[in-house]
Amino acid sequence: MKTVATFAAGALVASVARAQVVQWDIHRRQTETKLTRRQDGTVTEVITNEKLKGGYFASCTVGTPGQNLTLQLDTGSSDIWVPSIDESDSKSFLVVGENEFSISYVDGSHSKGDYIAETFEIGGATLTNLTMGLGINTDIPYGLVGVGYVASEAIVDSTRSTSSAYDNLPLLMQKQGLIATNAYSLWLNDLDASTGSILFGGIDTEKYHGDLTRINIYKDSRSGVFSSFTVALTSVQASSSSGTDSLAAEFPIPVILDSGTTFSYLPTELAEQIWQEVGAVYYDEVSLALLPCDMENSQGHFSFGFGGSGGPMINVTMDELVLPLTSGSRSIPLPDGPNAGQAACQFGIQNFSSSSTSFLLGDTFLRSAYVVYDLVNNEIAIAPTDFNATTSNVVAFPSEGAQIPSATAAPNQAEVTQGGSLTTPSYGASGGFQDDKESAASIPPPLDLSRIAVIGASMGLITVGSGFFLLF
Ligand SMILES: *[C@@H]1O[C@H](CO)[C@@H](O)[C@H](O)[C@H]1NC(C)=O
Ligand SMILES: *[C@@H]1O[C@H](CO)[C@@H](O)[C@H](O)[C@H]1NC(C)=O
Ligand SMILES: *[C@@H]1O[C@H](CO)[C@@H](O)[C@H](O)[C@H]1NC(C)=O
Ligand SMILES: *[C@@H]1O[C@H](CO)[C@@H](O)[C@H](O)[C@H]1NC(C)=O
Ligand SMILES: *[C@@H]1O[C@H](CO)[C@@H](O)[C@H](O)[C@H]1NC(C)=O
Repeated sequence: MKTVATFAAGALVASVARAQVVQWDIHRRQTETKLTRRQDGTVTEVITNEKLKGGYFASCTVGTPGQNLTLQLDTGSSDIWVPSIDESDSKSFLVVGENEFSISYVDGSHSKGDYIAETFEIGGATLTNLTMGLGINTDIPYGLVGVGYVASEAIVDSTRSTSSAYDNLPLLMQKQGLIATNAYSLWLNDLDASTGSILFGGIDTEKYHGDLTRINIYKDSRSGVFSSFTVALTSVQASSSSGTDSLAAEFPIPVILDSGTTFSYLPTELAEQIWQEVGAVYYDEVSLALLPCDMENSQGHFSFGFGGSGGPMINVTMDELVLPLTSGSRSIPLPDGPNAGQAACQFGIQNFSSSSTSFLLGDTFLRSAYVVYDLVNNEIAIAPTDFNATTSNVVAFPSEGAQIPSATAAPNQAEVTQGGSLTTPSYGASGGFQDDKESAASIPPPLDLSRIAVIGASMGLITVGSGFFLLF
């Protein structure tokens, strides 16, 4: 893990006084999925999700002198919190809200404790007096760095007042002069690569293909403020050697771009069409859509369109959408259906039914995109990622409120209205998805799915309490 501070002039200088961008390298971590014992008393097997429940982690220091910590980066929440800090060893430690910190995430995990103000070092840049949570009581083994809007800070939720919001990381970076405006770019990189980066205050034109296109972020309809990175998904297409299908749904679908969530979650009707294209099957036993692992070699892809016609389109290939499901080091076979006996993998697009919250495009989508988050103009710019790019050309935002550099607005956003294709596709692409791959060998069945229960496998770290979204 290395962190670098990158300066507008391109030179690496030891001082941050003139810095306009701060880059933070992030790496994907593989942790074990939590398990529950099933009611019927059957044996619970340990499932290790190697690429699952990954999340992107970065190194930073907290306190004076700095104490090393590794925290998960999350665009779906807005607080930094740390599980512990040796307060007697830090000269800058200050409690600013005793017992006032309390955050819960949609997967049921939580963290509670004090608000503290501390010195925080990130990517070679130092912030003083940054408010963060100290998670004295938590069931999460690592802390988080939430970089979302201040309106979704946990304190705003618990006091039900936006006036209790404090300056969180990206906003304080701007106020303390480390970056010109409250904006950053996220490059997660390939599923098979272990590192990506977040660049505060700038974009890197060498990390994407084509041009960046700007789309609007939508307000929360209940509070009327910008509180999450909700954008309008306006089309989904499936393409393979055998054809292209436009999938049916009530577009636009409000989707949150959330780096703290491993999978993507779309409305059940749309997810079912995507599953049919690739031959994925939903299993109630694990509450997941699974597919044969060799589908990662399929040549088909899905195209996600945003912001109406002429808006940005991101293609996601099958090798980004097939995630392992193993028990210890053993594969688990699909129990039934046309692919029975083949090694089972988890599909990167799962379903969710909700009338009250938005849907989620998590890491299985975000890895295929370079995404710039502009929290001042309330816009996101997006372009197809350049996987494994090794060169860099950083362009800083020149001033507070400046628009995203090198980006043009999606031309027809004003026309985005409720509606969309409700005609079920003919699944012309399906044959190509399932044929364009190497043939799979069956594996001996070491155990069956009904003996496994997975919990907390995936749903990420969007804070509970997000409301309806004001769309269209
Ligand atoms: C903290 O991390 C830095 C950089 O990786 C390392 O040089 C230093 O020894 C670490 N300090 C502690 C106390 O582990
Ligand atoms: C630190 O931040 C708190 C709250 O954000 C503020 O009240 C306080 O004045 C700040 N202290 C310093 C030394 O800047
Ligand atoms: C990116 O790098 C990883 C690790 O070296 C490799 O497995 C993967 O195939 C590369 N991706 C592309 C698109 O070249
Ligand atoms: C994305 O997929 C669509 C449909 O297959 C194709 O027309 C387009 O050229 C692809 N875009 C990129 C950047 O590969
Ligand atoms: C997901 O889809 C399956 C089958 O299509 C359905 O049984 C399940 O209830 C759905 N899950 C959610 C959370 O909507």
